[in-house]
Amino acid sequence: MNEELTLTILGGVDKDGVPEPVKFMEVSKGEIIGIVGPTGSGKSTLIDDIEQLAQGDTPTGRSILINGKRPDALTRVDPRRKLVAQLSQKMHFLADMTVVDFLHMHARSRGKGPELVNRVIELANTLTGEPISPDHYLTVLSGGQSRSLMTADIAVISDSPVVLIDEIENAGIKKQEALRLLSGEGKIVVVVTHDPVLALMASRRIVIRNGAMVDIITTSREEQDVCGRITQVDNWLLSLRETIRRGEVVEELA
Ligand SMILES: Nc1ncnc2c1ncn2[C@@H]1O[C@H](COP(=O)(O)OP(=O)(O)O)[C@@H](O)[C@H]1O
Ligand SMILES: [Mg+2]
Repeated sequence: MNEELTLTILGGVDKDGVPEPVKFMEVSKGEIIGIVGPTGSGKSTLIDDIEQLAQGDTPTGRSILINGKRPDALTRVDPRRKLVAQLSQKMHFLADMTVVDFLHMHARSRGKGPELVNRVIELANTLTGEPISPDHYLTVLSGGQSRSLMTADIAVISDSPVVLIDEIENAGIKKQEALRLLSGEGKIVVVVTHDPVLALMASRRIVIRNGAMVDIITTSREEQDVCGRITQVDNWLLSLRETIRRGEVVEELA
C-alpha cells in the first residue's frame, strides 16, 4: 500500500432534503477521522455511504470519490478489490476453527504468504491483555481477544485501505494502540465514537446533526494533551482488569 490514497466525501442532503452544510471533505492515507453526533443523527448512515462507495444513489445523495475519481463499477462490487473493511460491532466468528487455521485460510484467500499469520497473532497480543494462542478456537475468544485479532488481521492481511469502525465496544482492547496500528499501516480510519480517547485521536471529526454533516472540528493541541492523559488512565484500567482477572491483588496506587 504505497500508492497515494484520498477519500473524498461529497455532501448530499439532510433528513429534510436540505443540502448539508459540509459539501466537501477530503481524507488522506494514514488519517483518523471521527464521526460524532446524537443517537439517530445519521452517523451509521455516513459510514454506510462510505462502505458502499455511494454515488448519489443512497438516501443522503452523497458521493464518495477515491483519488478524486468516481470508483468504477467493478471496485464497488468485487470483494477481492474491496477498498473498505468494516471492523464490525458483531464480531461473532461462525467457524469452529482455530486462530491459526483461520488466519492461514484468510491469508491464502487474499493471496498472502503464511508468514503473516504469526505477525497477526503477535500484533493482536499487543492489543489485548489476555494472550491469544494460535490453537485457541475462535468461538472461545473473549470480546477483547476477538476485536484485537480482527484489528490485527485487518492491519496485516486485508488490503482494504479504508477501515470503518462503528461504535465498537472497546472493553478489553488497547484502543489507542489499535487505531495507531491501523493508521500506521497507511490506512484511512473512520471511527464513529464518543469515547474521548478515540475521538480526540482523530485529526478531525465530523459533526452530524439531522442527517447532515454540519461541521468539521480539527483536534486542537489542548485536546491532544487531554487525549494523552486519558489514555494513561485507560491503560491503567486495562491493566487493573487483567490483574483482577488473574486472581491477583491490586497493590499499585495511581
Ligand atoms: N441524510 C439523510 N437522509 C435521510 N435519512 C437519513 C439521513 N441520515 C440519516 N437518515 C436516517 O436516520 C436514521 C438514523 O440514522 P443512523 O445513521 O442510524 O443514526 P446514528 O448512527 O447516528 O444513531 C436512519 O433511519 C437513517 O436512514
Ligand atoms: Mg449508529
